[in-house]
Amino acid sequence: MTEPYSPPGAASAPDDDSQAARQSPATAPTSNLEPRQCASPWPPHGGQGEALLQCLGVDPSSATGPLVDLSASLNPLGPPTWFADWLAGAGGHLWRYPDPRQPLARAALAAHHGVAQQQLWLTNGGAEAIHLVAQCHRGGRALIVEPTFGEYARACALNDISVSRIMLQGDEFRLDVDALCQAMTGVDLVFLCRPNNPTGTLARRDDVATLLLHARRVGAVLVVDEAFAEFSDEGEDEGEDEGEDESADFECSDDAAGDRRCAAQGPLCQWLVPGADTSVDVPLVLLRSLTKFYTLPGLRLGYVMASAARIQALAERQVAWSLNGLAEAVVPELLADGDFAEASRGWVDGERDRLCQALRALGLVVSESRANFVLLRLPGAATPQRGEVLLRGLARHAILGRHTHTFRGLDGAWVRLALSTAEVNDRVIEALADIIAAETAAGGSQTPRSGGSA
Ligand SMILES: Cc1ncc(COP(=O)(O)O)c(C=O)c1O
Repeated sequence: MTEPYSPPGAASAPDDDSQAARQSPATAPTSNLEPRQCASPWPPHGGQGEALLQCLGVDPSSATGPLVDLSASLNPLGPPTWFADWLAGAGGHLWRYPDPRQPLARAALAAHHGVAQQQLWLTNGGAEAIHLVAQCHRGGRALIVEPTFGEYARACALNDISVSRIMLQGDEFRLDVDALCQAMTGVDLVFLCRPNNPTGTLARRDDVATLLLHARRVGAVLVVDEAFAEFSDEGEDEGEDEGEDESADFECSDDAAGDRRCAAQGPLCQWLVPGADTSVDVPLVLLRSLTKFYTLPGLRLGYVMASAARIQALAERQVAWSLNGLAEAVVPELLADGDFAEASRGWVDGERDRLCQALRALGLVVSESRANFVLLRLPGAATPQRGEVLLRGLARHAILGRHTHTFRGLDGAWVRLALSTAEVNDRVIEALADIIAAETAAGGSQTPRSGGSA
């Protein structure tokens, strides 16, 4: 079953562009970005099924069953059932210009998060938010916690930002907070994805508090991408922390310039809520996306939360009417649907646990995900060849996974799979059991039947 590994070209990940930018920040090769991206045969993002099948050399007609694409991580329960009806009556939002102040959506989201309206700005998906943040730090220096979403490095390359990187550690993808703090010296902004794409791991809240405090000391801005935050129940995190909760005493203004005290519990956006001294600047930028949780990737809906000054700088750089009228109008409706949110979170939590348990029982190495996707690999050597055994095998079972060739440090050895319906998830488990059995029969695996590491 194992096929000879034929790399589909000299895969130069899009991230390589920011590597070049690091070496020569003043002359970041932005003009090289497109050609180099095209040189990589691997699609840079999930949801590009045809390109992926082409890379794998799998003919979709040879697949055993209807094709399911698990390479993009969307909520299998969405969009909410009322959305189609709402859309049918929402034409009025298309034949007039959207209000550039985004009043409806901003008010609804600010109230939802308990921040001031001046602290929040909507964007054309979370992707635009990343690029606007990078534009605000043009020519600076960034630190990226890898492996992670490739758009941070791309946005840096496009804005002449030199990039250094720090890797999550081991198969558990541990965050080395001390090393990260050390690496922050001389850096303007730090990108941390939480929960992280593609590992699904959630940096502890008190670790983030430590990072934010250190960022303030060294004059850096901590950018936390919470695109998948809706899927992770932050409340559970509290019970996991052993020992002292350092964040309980965390003060953003450690130099006594103000009395803002960050909340020990709850979502990170509470750290932005103004205290008595509104002059205290919390160097925190939170990026959000509504496209994943509400399964509306085509609508393009994201937002940023930060200090009012940072939001103003970011909004000034946005293309006029970047947030379309439909997207703006639907936000209050989405937020009002508490039942959808609650049902989604509960269902994703249970289904992810069930899937992870089943996959570990097959002997696979599975990351500790707190998002709506899982990252897995065959046990033993983590090689691109073994990653492609999984990816190609799944494709033959008509299941498209997300390759990891473009994720630094994963290098194709791992595969990311979005959660789907229970029925499809069962298909995934069966397909992986088949693939592992075939691998074992071919003598290509050290796959134990149980006890795969986390
Ligand atoms: C971590 C992360 N942030 C942001 C985005 C962009 O999402 P959106 O569709 O809202 O632009 C993605 C998309 O995959 C992502 O994985």
